[in-house]
Amino acid sequence: MAVPAAQKALLIPAKFAPCVVGTIAVSQPKLGELLVRIDATALNPIDWKIRVYGVLAETFPAVTGYDAAGVVVALGEGVTSFAVGDRVMVQGWFDAESKSVHGTFVQYFDLPARLAFKIPESISIEAAATIPSGISTAAFPLYHPDIPASAKLKAPWTAEGAGAYSGKPFFVLGGSSCVGQFVIQLARLSGFAPIITTSSLHHTDYLQSLGATHVLDRRLPHETLIASAREIAGGKPFDVVYDAISVTDTLALGYALTAPGGDFVIVLDLEPVPGRDDATGKKVHMAHGLFMTPVNHGVGASLLDALPKLLESGAIKPSRHEILPGGLAGIIDGLRRMENDEVSGVKLVVRPQETV
Ligand SMILES: NC(=O)c1ccc[n+]([C@@H]2O[C@H](COP(=O)([O-])OP(=O)(O)OC[C@H]3O[C@@H](n4cnc5c(N)ncnc54)[C@H](OP(=O)(O)O)[C@@H]3O)[C@@H](O)[C@H]2O)c1
Repeated sequence: MAVPAAQKALLIPAKFAPCVVGTIAVSQPKLGELLVRIDATALNPIDWKIRVYGVLAETFPAVTGYDAAGVVVALGEGVTSFAVGDRVMVQGWFDAESKSVHGTFVQYFDLPARLAFKIPESISIEAAATIPSGISTAAFPLYHPDIPASAKLKAPWTAEGAGAYSGKPFFVLGGSSCVGQFVIQLARLSGFAPIITTSSLHHTDYLQSLGATHVLDRRLPHETLIASAREIAGGKPFDVVYDAISVTDTLALGYALTAPGGDFVIVLDLEPVPGRDDATGKKVHMAHGLFMTPVNHGVGASLLDALPKLLESGAIKPSRHEILPGGLAGIIDGLRRMENDEVSGVKLVVRPQETV
């Protein structure tokens, strides 16, 4: 396949500067790498936070973007597991040492072949772009077998872990968020029941279709939510609680609901957990959803191996998504909507090849 020398990308030109569409070189795939034409890329909250808070990236111009899907257009030396023309989904990443981001808001993306994943026929490219960061952020802090920041549950995509927590209650705060949607689905595969989530109530049918048994209005007072959750669980303890939002309000609620000795997963550690008292034995686990991070290679490979079957059977569904017009330029308004809390229960997706 013909690969151009230059491409459009969405750039943060300097720290805190507004994003612009610019032109950068297309990398050639190196040993063990793939070059992927990005046909769809999805937006994440971290994309606006990097620019607005000036975090993670210190190398500019910076290109962010953590979720994408497309077609393999070139193979680096030694790659035998993929062919030109394969449809794959990929995840962008940041490098903590160099403080640089290798993002997917581009038209061509290079990555180690072992981190790409072939998309089953039944899944569209746009739907595939909604999956990588949502499922990894949901899965790793629940099922990673050997890091401290994990509940170390048995992975439900293994024979040993499928349905292993049958009859145990599970609570997820923010079930309509993209991460929350995957947490609900994984909890269902783990056998947890009831699966209770907080959300705006207009998402109730959708969240129940993913596996939530009870959807509580996220705007109710904490006392009401705690009383309802305990009643629904029939007095059984919440040994595992996942907070897919992790702001002061949700952290307080989630920690209060977590049973003594239980596992509380959070996705942001910008604020302290209100009421945290380690003498209770409650463990707080900060999610780290990057497949690229070496400590996640084993659990990531195990998840990616299982994903084709899970997606083909419908056991795991991609997030609902909305396609924005304008190619990469469309990301700018999408990030503004995310920053203003105007995105509810969908993943925003653009098609970089439509960039003019
Ligand atoms: N640590 C990591 O590796 C990692 C990886 C990915 C994401 N994250 C973080 O995880 C968070 C979620 O990411 P995302 O992509 O899933 O977000 P998202 O889909 O953009 O989140 C939007 C959703 O959040 C819900 N929401 C907002 N405030 C809420 C509250 N107080 N209670 C319950 N629901 C609330 C909204 O619910 P309603 O529409 O129902 O009102 C909306 O559907 C972000 O802060 C992100 O930065 C961390």
